[in-house]
Amino acid sequence: MTFPEFKHLLFETDAEGIALLTINRPDKLNALNNKVLEELDTAISLTEKSDDIRVLIITGAGEKAFVAGADIKELSSLNRESGEKASSAGQQIFNRIEQCSKPVIGVVNGYALGGGAELAMACHIRIATEVAQIGLPEVSLGLIPGYGGTQRLPRLVGKSKAMEMILTGQPVAADEAKTMGLVNDIKPADKALDHAKKLATAMIKNGPLALSHAISAVNASQSKHGFAREASLFGRLCETEDFKEGTSAFLEKRKPAFKGH
Ligand code: COA
Repeated sequence: MTFPEFKHLLFETDAEGIALLTINRPDKLNALNNKVLEELDTAISLTEKSDDIRVLIITGAGEKAFVAGADIKELSSLNRESGEKASSAGQQIFNRIEQCSKPVIGVVNGYALGGGAELAMACHIRIATEVAQIGLPEVSLGLIPGYGGTQRLPRLVGKSKAMEMILTGQPVAADEAKTMGLVNDIKPADKALDHAKKLATAMIKNGPLALSHAISAVNASQSKHGFAREASLFGRLCETEDFKEGTSAFLEKRKPAFKGH
């Protein structure tokens, strides 16, 4: 599959099936303007469609920031109608990331503020570098988080901590983010991507259908239908070739060769 040229994204894939998406607007600390969001949406579609991609890693260009938020210049001209539209559009893109059928790992390599924190929270797993600062400072602009932050942060860290972060607007450093379960792990800046790739490699060994159904089932844990969804997906997997291959390989003491169906 050939990928389009992006203006603000770097998008590369390796032979193993790991795609690396870098938000590339370092002079503006990778702030999410409309073009970045549009390209992000395209990159998610490509990730879903491409058989060559098994895991997606998202990070930010430069040494300072993952993403320093939605582009405040663009935000400043929003009115009630366009503001609601912009929030819904951003939510949709980040929901697509959360619901991506392939694992998505965020490497949070610096400031992850506002929309940047919301992008990180939409990823399935987050690895922070030691300098990461994660926060939702929208109230300092007279706003609230609009790309899903008021919903995802309480789910990840609990209502009390989420209220504290959203109402003060103050960011937390990497170690506090890890303590509260906001990030999975902290690594030095030059090791974080490698660590994410190691996780990706471990995931790629598993059945692709099992991975996508696991993501879907875990995502359903927030709904009251979560248990039913889990049982339904479990049942669906039981009739796949990958399930037969995985169980046979174990019983025959060999490595499975998953085909994704
Ligand atoms: N939107 C648009 N531009 C942004 C931005 C954003 N969210 N965050 C940073 N930038 C731009 C700055 O305007 C500056 O551009 P310039 O060089 O043309 O003036 C450039 O990125 C570098 O940022 P700067 O503020 O000079 O870096 P810093 O190291 O002094 O501070 C931050 C870093 C992250 C603390 C600071 O940029 C900041 O507070 N950004 C806004 C964070 C925010 O409120 N995000 C939520 C938005 S909803």
